[in-house]
Amino acid sequence: MRVLVVGGGAREHALCWRLAREDGVHVWAAPGNPGMRSVARCVPVAADDAAALADVARREGVDLVVVGPEGPLVDGVADALRPQGLAVLGPGAAAARIEGSKRWAMAFCRRHGIPAPAFEVAEDVPRALELAARWPLPVVCKADGLMAGKGVVVAETRDEALAAARLLAARGPVVFEEFLAGVELSAFALCDGQRVWYLGEARDHKRLLDGDRGPMTGGMGAFAPVPELDEATRTQVRGILRAAVAALAAEGVPFVGFLFAGLMLTAAGPRVLEFNCRLGDPEAQALLPLLAGPIAEHWLVAARGGLPGDGDAPRAPEAALGVVLASPGYPEAPRAGGRIQGLCSDGGVHGALCFHAATALRDGEWTTTGGRVLTVVGRGSDLATARSAAYRAAASVQFAARQWRGDIGLPPGGGREGSGLPDPSESGGRRL
Ligand code: GLY
Repeated sequence: MRVLVVGGGAREHALCWRLAREDGVHVWAAPGNPGMRSVARCVPVAADDAAALADVARREGVDLVVVGPEGPLVDGVADALRPQGLAVLGPGAAAARIEGSKRWAMAFCRRHGIPAPAFEVAEDVPRALELAARWPLPVVCKADGLMAGKGVVVAETRDEALAAARLLAARGPVVFEEFLAGVELSAFALCDGQRVWYLGEARDHKRLLDGDRGPMTGGMGAFAPVPELDEATRTQVRGILRAAVAALAAEGVPFVGFLFAGLMLTAAGPRVLEFNCRLGDPEAQALLPLLAGPIAEHWLVAARGGLPGDGDAPRAPEAALGVVLASPGYPEAPRAGGRIQGLCSDGGVHGALCFHAATALRDGEWTTTGGRVLTVVGRGSDLATARSAAYRAAASVQFAARQWRGDIGLPPGGGREGSGLPDPSESGGRRL
């Protein structure tokens, strides 16, 4: 079987790695990145160039196209590829709106009784200021469109709410949402337009600094599974994903691909904070290594709309944890060009998985090319073992002034004291 993975980040590296483990599966990546060359053939085609992607798929006899990032999906890349006769795992633009427009997604939840926070939408700056002046605090202010995880402000004070309203409304509509307290997690499903195959859950750490401080990022690490999720709540989570897929189908926009629910586990049950139309990054780097059994055939069946029913993907009874190594200056102004030491010649690390996002290989030397550089993923029989493996391997990969969090996988406020794990500040981490 031949699979084309669209995208070039660490999530797509993890997709290629997982697919390439299966006998008889051959993987191409567009555009891919140098770190994934041991598992995929990279072709220099942009993730949003549907015509060139279709050419590659035809030329290489591709059976299945898996689209990684949200941007091309929201822009309709799957709609452009399907009429070429390609099986595509990724929703068309109409269904991808569930991620592309936060106000559409919240209204969709309301229309279908899917549990979500109360919300109101401001279409312009005066209305945004009016809502910011009266919504109970804290209030969540969200830009409507795609913002790479950086369009959300949790305003604790009236001044912060007004400032967020001014900033976000200058760019477009703003959603004001009830703030919910609880345990946050990301839940994932493989969908064929009608049926839902639960893939599992993970948690990411979105802020730059330990203790959930500092600016929002694309994600500084993730782990799976999430210990706080009991079986009864997992059943509710599956129910939310199924309800969303059924509602999309009922609205005439069947969702084929990976549906990602960003959830808050509240005292009253899980609530949807957002839906996304793809796998999470860095959640996929922790989730995919846990998927057991053959997946490629199953994903092809889903892309063709033929899953035999709802179900659960087989998962190894293990844990995985990923630590993101980021460039200095990330997220505001990442400084690239740092020489990376400690990687094997194929880009791997000893004792863990290493998924590349922003690296280059020149004359046998690995260098950084952007903000989030690598995700180093440890696996083990439980979260603590996976965590030790990830941090031990991550500590062996060095580049100047790299940034990483030391508390991935610890409960909020857990700190790294007493963990016995390497401290980033002693090994080239962000404090140097
Ligand atoms: N890690 C969150 C996301 O992928 O949107």
